[in-house]
Amino acid sequence: MALMFLFNAIGLIIFITRTQFISSSSPFSSPPYELKLGSSLSVEKRGDFLISPNGIFTAGFYNVGENAYCFSVWLTKPMSDGSRTIVWMANRDLPVNGKSSKLSLLKTGNLVLRDAYQRLPIWTTTTRDSTQTAVLKMNNSGNLFLQNKDGEIIWQSFDSPSDTLLPNQPLTKFATLVSSRSQTNYSSGFYKLFFDNDNVLRLVYSDSKLIGIYWPNPELRAWENCRSTYGSRRIATLDSSGHFTSTDNLFFNTSDAGDQPLRRLTMDYDGNVRVYSLDESRRIWKVTWLAISETCKIHGSCGENSMCLNDPSYGRKCSCLPNHKRINYTDWSYGCEPEFKPSLCGNGEDHYLHLAHSDFWGYDFVYMPNTTLSACKQECSNRCTCKGFQFKYDWTKGFSICYPKFQLVNGYGSSNFNGSMYLKVPKNIPLSSNNNKAINDFSLNCSNKPTIQLDRPYDLKRPQESIKFLMLIAKNQGEAELQAEISTLGTLNHMNLIEMWGYCAESKHRFLVYEYMVNGSLAQNLHCSELDWDKRYDIALGTAKGLAYLHEECLEWILHCDIKPQNILLDCDYKPKVADFGLSRLFNRDETRNLEFTKARGTRGYMAPEWLFVNIPITSKVDVFSYGVVMLEMITGRSPTGANQNEGLEVISLHSWVAEKILAAGGTNDWVQEVLYLKVDGNYNMSRMVTLIKVALRCCEEDKDARPTMKQVVDMLLHVEDA
Ligand SMILES: *[C@@H]1O[C@H](CO)[C@@H](O)[C@H](O)[C@H]1NC(C)=O
Ligand SMILES: *[C@@H]1O[C@H](CO)[C@@H](O)[C@H](O)[C@H]1NC(C)=O
Ligand SMILES: *[C@@H]1O[C@H](CO)[C@@H](O)[C@H](O)[C@H]1NC(C)=O
Ligand SMILES: *[C@@H]1O[C@H](CO)[C@@H](O)[C@H](O)[C@H]1NC(C)=O
Ligand SMILES: *[C@@H]1O[C@H](CO)[C@@H](O)[C@H](O)[C@H]1NC(C)=O
Ligand SMILES: *[C@@H]1O[C@H](CO)[C@@H](O)[C@H](O)[C@H]1NC(C)=O
Ligand SMILES: *[C@@H]1O[C@H](CO)[C@@H](O)[C@H](O)[C@H]1NC(C)=O
Ligand SMILES: *[C@@H]1O[C@H](CO)[C@@H](O)[C@H](O)[C@H]1NC(C)=O
Ligand SMILES: *[C@@H]1O[C@H](CO)[C@@H](O)[C@H](O)[C@H]1NC(C)=O
Repeated sequence: MALMFLFNAIGLIIFITRTQFISSSSPFSSPPYELKLGSSLSVEKRGDFLISPNGIFTAGFYNVGENAYCFSVWLTKPMSDGSRTIVWMANRDLPVNGKSSKLSLLKTGNLVLRDAYQRLPIWTTTTRDSTQTAVLKMNNSGNLFLQNKDGEIIWQSFDSPSDTLLPNQPLTKFATLVSSRSQTNYSSGFYKLFFDNDNVLRLVYSDSKLIGIYWPNPELRAWENCRSTYGSRRIATLDSSGHFTSTDNLFFNTSDAGDQPLRRLTMDYDGNVRVYSLDESRRIWKVTWLAISETCKIHGSCGENSMCLNDPSYGRKCSCLPNHKRINYTDWSYGCEPEFKPSLCGNGEDHYLHLAHSDFWGYDFVYMPNTTLSACKQECSNRCTCKGFQFKYDWTKGFSICYPKFQLVNGYGSSNFNGSMYLKVPKNIPLSSNNNKAINDFSLNCSNKPTIQLDRPYDLKRPQESIKFLMLIAKNQGEAELQAEISTLGTLNHMNLIEMWGYCAESKHRFLVYEYMVNGSLAQNLHCSELDWDKRYDIALGTAKGLAYLHEECLEWILHCDIKPQNILLDCDYKPKVADFGLSRLFNRDETRNLEFTKARGTRGYMAPEWLFVNIPITSKVDVFSYGVVMLEMITGRSPTGANQNEGLEVISLHSWVAEKILAAGGTNDWVQEVLYLKVDGNYNMSRMVTLIKVALRCCEEDKDARPTMKQVVDMLLHVEDA
């Protein structure tokens, strides 16, 4: 089904090459704002560009590989990492040579791109201008166009987008956004955004072997996805204020809608569609909308015979099915292949490897409702080319459903998915658990091990995608002990501690389910100028409150032991929440507190000195030390593990560096400006800043008894006296 309407819908750029070719070698004579009839842009000449009147966009030959150039439009100014943002390409799949290649506007009004050694053009607009007055120009929106003296637009790049739409550039029924092959290879990739035959804007994956629609949710009908099939005009546009409208009733506003930064909507090489806004001062793109938040729902990403796992730090992770190996070690889209020889058909020499919590989408021979596991196995065994089957119990229908599959693609592992996959393997492959190694990495068997439901009302209104998994591997700890610890952690309840919703444990793996924090961690935001001084102060105070609660206020006594910017998460208002009690230990208040620790814990740069000395007890002051270091990092923007040098160019710790600045200022407050992070501008309250830095320095004292408690830190930060 998908196949049929797809091919009708995709409007490909067709290169028509029958045009009469007139050689033209008139020298480039006009300023680089327009290309006149009979002239050319040459790949070799450095200055052969067209520039938009506002200077933002440049059109010219872009180097895409060794001696390979594509005629492109890009943002004139590079990004902060030096990269260029390409917004359009004429010949992305047929780059031209770096010598003698030319883009020429012929006297007939046809625009032609010729490769040095090829008689026929690589690309042409197939246009004709009877007035013989056409010029090629680019306007301030990044549209490259041919216009004649009557003002008539003969051709424009906005009509044939590559992978990007600029604001006010409509996506029409005649165009398709096609992703790049990879981040560095601009040739056509496998993902497309287009208007389907039923007028709905969709995302499809298609390579030589697979094809499948994955957005909007292919299991639902258009109206169930809130899309209309009546908009036969088929136009979608993002305006310059960040409002997106489409004739199929898809409307959205970017998260910064109303502002007017430069935006782009891109069909990214990873299969997601994102809207980006340019942060002009930092020269970076910020994502302000995306089509798919669970990236494993994007089809084709891991190739055949593999599984995808949503991973909080990497976005997604692929792994081969058990007894399969990767086909191409640099490119996951090739997928995996079996390491075994499939047994001869019909000899009954197969059995089935069970993969819990796994979903595979599409490619079913049949759909068998209200069936049994053994009937499903029989069905797959009867079919020679059946690779395995999906089996799941449908709670709404009250029976099990079987989907025998001829291809294993779009595999997706998620512990909140109830169905199972049964992989057909020859009898000589044992079904033992170590065969399940690859899959075990992310599908946990929680059926027989207790899953602790935390004693907290579970709010069903929370969207599923806001659940985040963190994995904790507990090594010298028994199950009972861990469960006691988990249930204690589950009773913690403080606005500055991340809320844990549940956990699941099997053998040495534990999943902790936490609430999801929109703005990521302090580490991700540390260098962000949006975190102004007031917000930074609030983060200092909130973090201190969370830790004070951990240390003192709750019934049991808990150390965090790994305070660092990565473990301080920020919500949408940048309120901090301390996360990851992965290394935390519970103590009885009366217990001797140092016995449990035989090895240093924590992260280099943030660890208190007493971790290194066996005879000094470990107390809550280790967290106080780490807190002090994090605060100094947040204020100075300097890494505690980087090299901080004093006047004598010795490498010293971050807290010594700050302390020396204070000492050198001789009692004045001149040092404040010297240590503050330059990237953060705007006003700050001098008394609060002096207090915060001095408190942070006290937290970093070598002698643990000289450090304040977290409760004292909170008090000091709350009661700043105006100097
Ligand atoms: C880009 O990818 C295409 C398709 O895989 C390949 O043919 C081409 O050689 C690649 N180009 C570069 C510059 O790597
Ligand atoms: C550039 O051209 C496009 C397409 O004709 C048009 O929509 C847009 O308004 C133009 N931009 C400017 C700044 O004139
Ligand atoms: C987008 O914002 C406009 C006003 O700026 C509002 O009228 C519209 O309802 C918003 N659309 C969506 C989908 O939120
Ligand atoms: C693996 O994929 C890369 C990128 O697509 C390609 O350049 C390379 O030739 C492939 N290697 C093999 C062995 O197929
Ligand atoms: C979980 O493990 C138990 C035995 O350890 C096994 O009986 C059960 O079938 C497994 N369940 C899943 C869903 O893998
Ligand atoms: C499922 O199959 C059983 C046995 O064939 C039958 O009794 C039952 O009514 C079926 N259930 C549904 C919902 O069709
Ligand atoms: C998964 O199965 C459990 C019972 O084992 C059921 O309560 C729960 O609703 C199911 N979840 C989903 C998402 O179907
Ligand atoms: C943090 O959240 C705010 C509000 O939702 C948003 O404007 C901002 O861009 C977010 N910052 C990051 C780094 O995600
Ligand atoms: C600085 O902050 C302190 C405490 O929060 C407050 O009392 C004082 O008024 C502030 N000073 C200025 C100049 O805003």
